[in-house]
Amino acid sequence: MPGIIVVGSQWGDEGKGKVVDVFSQKADFVVRYQGGANAGHTLVVDGKKTVLHLIPSGVLHPHTTCIIAAGCVLDIEKLSDEIRALKENGLLKDDAQLQISDSATVILPYHKVLDQAREKAAGLEKIGTTGRGIGPAYEERASRKALLFGDLFQKDSLRGKLEVALKEKNFLLEKFYNEKPVSVDEMITLIDKVAKYLEPYRSRDTSLQIYKALKATKKVLFEGAQGSLLDLLHGTYPFVTSSSTLSGSAMIGAGIGPGTINQVMGITKAYTTRVGSGPFPTECDNEIGERLRQTGAEFGATTGRSRRCGWLDLVALKYAIRLSGITSLALMKLDVLSGFEKIDVCNAYELDGQRITEYPVSPGDLARCKPLYESLNGWKEDLTQAKSVQDLPRYAQEYVQFIGASVAVPIDVVSVGPGRDQTLWIKPLFS
Ligand code: GDP
Ligand code: IMO
Ligand code: MG
Repeated sequence: MPGIIVVGSQWGDEGKGKVVDVFSQKADFVVRYQGGANAGHTLVVDGKKTVLHLIPSGVLHPHTTCIIAAGCVLDIEKLSDEIRALKENGLLKDDAQLQISDSATVILPYHKVLDQAREKAAGLEKIGTTGRGIGPAYEERASRKALLFGDLFQKDSLRGKLEVALKEKNFLLEKFYNEKPVSVDEMITLIDKVAKYLEPYRSRDTSLQIYKALKATKKVLFEGAQGSLLDLLHGTYPFVTSSSTLSGSAMIGAGIGPGTINQVMGITKAYTTRVGSGPFPTECDNEIGERLRQTGAEFGATTGRSRRCGWLDLVALKYAIRLSGITSLALMKLDVLSGFEKIDVCNAYELDGQRITEYPVSPGDLARCKPLYESLNGWKEDLTQAKSVQDLPRYAQEYVQFIGASVAVPIDVVSVGPGRDQTLWIKPLFS
């Protein structure tokens, strides 16, 4: 069946939004299956920038139906703002283009207050979350007290459900974090306003919709948020997000069976970035990192925070490829490396005096790893005008080949700028 899962293979912000936007020219459906407004996916079309947090990155193509599936956590206020902004810009003309699952988990202001209060209380030990209420919302879902999108339209049971959820949350907020409690009435007022605005996008069963689309051989893209190393189970725990960010999560979050999709594209930057706390072996806390940050405009699309920057880490990339069964890669932001005389690539770590080539999963080990680098030749030329991989200077081509050969996965796409036309295809999509 013609489905492709697009996953971030590092710590997020790899350029998933750009890839999904470009791919959506050929896609019938784009499905967001996990995460929430912690994501910031940037699309640049004719020089105009659009940042999406919850709405799938296919939305700029009117023929593409965008689905927010059950695995997502929905900040209903942010979502309404995002829809409104698109409409004001003449985008999203047809309400039917956006479909939201009744089973998605709702994020309300108290989730965000709790998220931020926890971070404040953690001080130096903080995770560096986006403060968007992601952890508290997924916790509430796991504890079976969450409000679902479909609940917003069940007036008779809404108040009771909120009372149950808020009883615990207010205890925590007041007694543990010294924050103001949240009133049920306040939440009902907010929901009344926002639910009406969102009702036209209510699809009820998006799992069925996706199943039918795949059966009818429609082209479906599954858009991951965050990145593999932020995965709740397999990432750099506890410095992770609260959902699974791996390809398997597309099955669960969208509600489709394994075996329906056999193509997984890993999106990777030609170097590495990370926002928030946690280990990052190849981080360059020096002029190299600063140069990558400035040239790559590495500032968070959601929080505006500076992204930590460093060289490409092949040990971590191979781990991500294994975890998600990545079948091909899109190599992003190659243009940012122009002008470096030498480009380092980490192909092993030193851990307690030993050279290791497998990513260490035991708690604390990654933080003790020192990167071992292979140094490759850099190039001076600007890449942003290249129209094909053959246009790239020799050492840039060698860099691409080196990565593909090192991880034993084909690189299907190379990106040399934020724009749609700055995309070099090695293998056409849906081929
Ligand atoms: P996402 O979260 O994975 O969708 O990535 P973000 O949108 O948070 O961050 C990627 C940033 O890099 C955005 O500002 C994109 O416009 C930009 N970008 C994407 N591809 C390229 C590229 O090939 N070159 C350059 N210079 N910028 C790119
Ligand atoms: P996209 O989809 C980069 C990071 C946060 C923090 C950790 C937990 O744009 O790639 P959370 O708010 O999820 O509880 O924060 O995860 N994080 C991201 N980093 N890109 C993202 O999304 C991220 N979403 C969350 O910075 O370290
Ligand atoms: Mg991002």
